[in-house]
Amino acid sequence: MKSCIASAPSSTANLGPGYDVFGLALDALEDTVKITKVAGKEGRINIEMESEVVIPSDPHSNSVGLVVRKMAREFGITDNLDVHVKKGVPAGYGMGSSAASAAAAAVAFNRLYSLKIRKETLVEYAAEGEIASAGAKHYDNVSASLIGGFVISNINQETTVPEFVRIDPPKDLVLVVCVPSVPVPAKKTEVARMVLPKEVPLRSVVYNVSGASTVVAGFALKDVEIIAKGINDVIVEPARKHLIPGYDSVRRNALEAGALAVTISGAGPSMIAFLKTSKKAKKVAAAMAAGFKEAGAESRTYTCKPSDGARVTS
Ligand code: HSE
Repeated sequence: MKSCIASAPSSTANLGPGYDVFGLALDALEDTVKITKVAGKEGRINIEMESEVVIPSDPHSNSVGLVVRKMAREFGITDNLDVHVKKGVPAGYGMGSSAASAAAAAVAFNRLYSLKIRKETLVEYAAEGEIASAGAKHYDNVSASLIGGFVISNINQETTVPEFVRIDPPKDLVLVVCVPSVPVPAKKTEVARMVLPKEVPLRSVVYNVSGASTVVAGFALKDVEIIAKGINDVIVEPARKHLIPGYDSVRRNALEAGALAVTISGAGPSMIAFLKTSKKAKKVAAAMAAGFKEAGAESRTYTCKPSDGARVTS
């Protein structure tokens, strides 16, 4: 095989109280990565980005480059490689953009070299790509984008390798993601992580554990209403909301229009609403867009469903 193409979906992370732990793959958008072996064995990686916005293509700082370099190093592969990345997920808006590219790259590399690595293990390689945008590895977006569905990252034991548990989301779960057209800093996730408190009161931890447990119970029981009842974050969201123009009005409007829960999608600035069935989706999408508009921002909305994970397309 000389080349391989793989695609990976957008995702939302945190889902309220599950900071760095919960991820949900979304069928709104996807990234596609093609890796081609070319002449020479100097280990040269040439990345070409096909994207609406300029994304650095240096393999030492690009999320796909970090993944491919790590996998090549680990498996002793020195082929020169051309990598073409087609961005569908907008970079820097909280829809798992770098994770989608990283997940697609890991899956394409795995197949190109017949490494037969299971997806749960590929997450560790794909997470390498998150260093490019977040400055640190975190698994929530990459695990969802790779494995699909709702994924819990078990990073509970810092000394052991993380493990990932997938739960199939309820069939009636519908999401509305509203993406504001506001400027975001180059390393937005890193910036959004810097505003977080280093220490939190035990009471807040108790609230978030309660909410997170309720979210997991909702997914396990396939009950959207239970999921929505758990989506309340008293630690991360209050520290970040000032980074999102219109946060309060988007949230209020969506709830008034019939959303069961609303939260920041990943590190923002997109907001995501949780609904049972698509009946109210149009109304919720318009209400969220009106909320951003009140703060002077245009926005794009995506009504979507949970998605399967990354896949080889050819
Ligand atoms: N858990 C990460 C964060 C997700 O909130 O910083 C980034 O998309």
